[in-house]
Amino acid sequence: MSIKNVAVIGGSGNLGPAVVKALVDTGFTVTVVTRLESKATFSSEVKVQRTDYDSASSLAEALAGQDAVVSTIATAALGQQQKIIEAAVKAGVKRFIPSEFGLNTQKVTGGAAKILGAKLAAQEQLKKAAAENPNFSWTGISTSLFFDWGLKVGSLGFSIKDKTATIFDSGNEPFTGTNLPTIGLAVASVLKNADTTANRYIDVASFVTTQNAILAVFQEETGTKWTVVNKNTSDSLKIADEKLAKGDYSAFGDYLKVELFRDGEGKSAKLEDLANEELGVSFGDLRATVKAVL
Ligand SMILES: NC(=O)c1ccc[n+]([C@@H]2O[C@H](COP(=O)([O-])OP(=O)(O)OC[C@H]3O[C@@H](n4cnc5c(N)ncnc54)[C@H](OP(=O)(O)O)[C@@H]3O)[C@@H](O)[C@H]2O)c1
Repeated sequence: MSIKNVAVIGGSGNLGPAVVKALVDTGFTVTVVTRLESKATFSSEVKVQRTDYDSASSLAEALAGQDAVVSTIATAALGQQQKIIEAAVKAGVKRFIPSEFGLNTQKVTGGAAKILGAKLAAQEQLKKAAAENPNFSWTGISTSLFFDWGLKVGSLGFSIKDKTATIFDSGNEPFTGTNLPTIGLAVASVLKNADTTANRYIDVASFVTTQNAILAVFQEETGTKWTVVNKNTSDSLKIADEKLAKGDYSAFGDYLKVELFRDGEGKSAKLEDLANEELGVSFGDLRATVKAVL
C-alpha cells in the first residue's frame, strides 16, 4: 500500500504541529483540515481545507483524493470523529489514524475507560469499517503522556516554577511518555510502513522511566533540592470517582495518576512491547529533554 496524500484533522493543537512537520519532512503531501471557525494559521508547506464537520459534502470535499487521514482532534471534539471516519471510508481513504495519542485505551479500566469511551468507540467503528472494506485500514498509536509537553504543563507532577515535585506512592512505578516530535515521527513511519502497520494498535515511547528518576535529573540540572509533596494514588482514585459521579470529567487528571503512577499498576508498556524499533523511532534522552524544558 502506498500513501502519498495525507490529511491531518486538528493539526493546530498541542500535538498537531509536530505531526504536520514530521509528515512534511518525510515527503508526504499534507492537507490540514481545520474548522470553518478556527483561527489557526499554518505553514505555507501545507494545503489548508476549511471544513464543516457537520456537513457530509464538506467532509467529502476535504477528504477527496487523500490516501490517509491522521486525526489529532481535541479530546472534547472526539464525538466528531465518527462522521469523519464515515466520510473517510466513503472517500476511499486507505488508512485512518484516530486521535489516540495517550494512555493505551485497550488497557485502561474503570472510570478512566468511561471517560475515554469515545476513543474506544472509534476503534470499534474502524475495525468494522476495515472488515467491510478491504481497501480501508487503521492504526491506533498509544504514546502515553506527552512527555516534553507534560514536563512544562505539570501533568507528570513537576512544577518547574516552584521546584516542587508531587510524587505518587513510592515514585518508583515505571511509566512511559513520548516527546511531541517523536510522536510526529511515529505517525510518519506508520504511514511509510503502511502494510505492516495495518489494523494494529501499537505503543511507542521516548522513555520508560519513573517519577523519582525524573526528579533526580531535575535536581541535578537545577543544582537544588526540590520540595517533594507525597501523595497516594488511593486518594487520587477516590477524588476521581467522586468527580466522575458528578459528571465532572476533570476526573481524568486524577485517574491518570492511578493508571501511571500507582505502585504495581503495571499498565504502562514495557520496553519489549514498544514498536519503536520496528518503526525506526529512537528513544529519547531524559537529561536532554529536562534541560530543554528548564
Ligand atoms: N498523552 C498526553 O499527555 C495527551 C495530552 C493531551 C492530549 N492528548 C490526546 O492527544 C490528542 C490531541 O490532543 P491535543 O491536546 O493536541 O488537542 P487540542 O490541542 O486540544 O486540539 C487539537 C485541535 O482540534 C481542533 N478542535 C478543537 N476544538 C474542536 C471542536 N470543538 N471541534 C472540532 N475540532 C476541534 C482544533 O483544530 P482547528 O482549530 O484547526 O480546527 C485544535 O487545534 C487527543 O486524542 C488527546 O486526548 C494526549
